[in-house]
Amino acid sequence: MSGFCAVILAAGKGTRMKSSLPKVLHQVGGKPMVEHVLVAAKKAGAVKNIIVIGFGADSVHQTIGPQAEFVVQAEQLGTGHAVMQAREALAGFDGTIMVLCGDTPLLRTELLTHLYETHRQAKAAATVLTARMPDAHGYGRVIRDCDGKVVKIVEQKDANPAELAVNEINTGIYCFESAPLFAALAGITCENAQGEYYLTDVIGILVNKGAQVWAATAEDHQETMGINSRMQLAEAEKILRRRKLVALMDSGVTIMDPDSTFVDEEVTVAPDTVLYPFTWLEGQTTVGTGCKLGPSTRIADSAIGDNATIHFTYAHECRIGNNVTVGPYVHLRPATVLADGVKVGNFVEVKNTEVGHGSKIPHLSYIGDTDMGAGVNIGSGTITVNYDGKHKHRTKIEDHAFIGCNSNLVAPVTVGSGAYVAAGSTITKNVPPGALGVARARQANIESWTDKHKR
Ligand code: UD1
Ligand code: CA
Repeated sequence: MSGFCAVILAAGKGTRMKSSLPKVLHQVGGKPMVEHVLVAAKKAGAVKNIIVIGFGADSVHQTIGPQAEFVVQAEQLGTGHAVMQAREALAGFDGTIMVLCGDTPLLRTELLTHLYETHRQAKAAATVLTARMPDAHGYGRVIRDCDGKVVKIVEQKDANPAELAVNEINTGIYCFESAPLFAALAGITCENAQGEYYLTDVIGILVNKGAQVWAATAEDHQETMGINSRMQLAEAEKILRRRKLVALMDSGVTIMDPDSTFVDEEVTVAPDTVLYPFTWLEGQTTVGTGCKLGPSTRIADSAIGDNATIHFTYAHECRIGNNVTVGPYVHLRPATVLADGVKVGNFVEVKNTEVGHGSKIPHLSYIGDTDMGAGVNIGSGTITVNYDGKHKHRTKIEDHAFIGCNSNLVAPVTVGSGAYVAAGSTITKNVPPGALGVARARQANIESWTDKHKR
């Protein structure tokens, strides 16, 4: 058969993370580490995916959901013991098992494909993926004989000085044929520095039995980095982020300062868009061509059209059309839809509102729960009074209406098409199309008041 089963080890606590969250749920590039591993395995052709969970089992299960099968390792007695827990779930499967760790989020599909192909071509019982690490500290070392054949893997804590000097490490990723794997696992013990059942001992056992044990080497050692600490988590984040930015730049996006630009993996940006420093594009965000985003802008789960200019802005769950200008200092909250040519700027908050073609909300406004037509002008300081303390109500502002500065529109209320609202009005009744709504006290001037007051 073609295709393999993936077993992803994710039961450990990750003591070195000093966290109440299971290690594999710590996020890099906007996704839990274990999900990165799962996606890479699936793309490489895994036909079945089993995740071994233990510490924080429920939260790992809930986070990943139906994307994989789960088996529980009640006590974390080591990586070998963890693989044994998958035996039942693999009953009846006699092909290749790829074992991966849930803490290696930088893996690429191509590398897993390379491992699988090497394993198949060698007709090996086991193939270990190795890497040459500039700093091998903490990893298991791959020990070879004078002919270069793999002999065994020795853990850092069990290694002698000569073994510690080896910089070829075990990435924790392997292909095994099912039958020899489980036969060898039956022979491992916990007589080692950590008192754990090491999966790595399977390699030495198979070699001693005369089975074919092979190695594939990762060219880019960064890809196989295992995350054990917050320092390494930050390193991984940087590498993953850089990868995304390089892909965007290769596809025609200008990124002024990659060191201060953050783009999640799923985000798409069309060519000839420019990202200025301190721009975050998160979640399921899409950006069209010719946009200028940032500086200091965070956009999450939003769709942006072409030629939009958005600076000093936080926008989430919004749809923004073409040729729109947003910012500076704008908050666009969920269910905001800005049609083409809209302008929103200078300390404005918009929520759950549709703004029609070419309308402008240029200064100091709160516009919530509003249906706004095309060509509307909202004067500085206009507020939609959408909440009566119990319920939210909608405001309707029809095409080409003009709202004077510092007005309150007390919802539910409609300002008809082409109508005007006088500055400083508190509008509580509908303003008919073409009318002027005035709702403020008349001005009275008291002559010579200042002189009297001074006396
Ligand atoms: C392991 C390897 C080491 C390798 C390194 C690569 C062993 C004994 N050592 O060491 O050779 O260089 O990975 O990153 O395998 N886990 C369980 N159940 C357990 C123990 C661990 O599911 O009982 C899971 C962890 O959640 C983790 C993975 O296995 O995802 C690796 O465990 P970890 O403790 O990080 O192993 P390392 O010490 O890094
Ligand atoms: Ca590890």
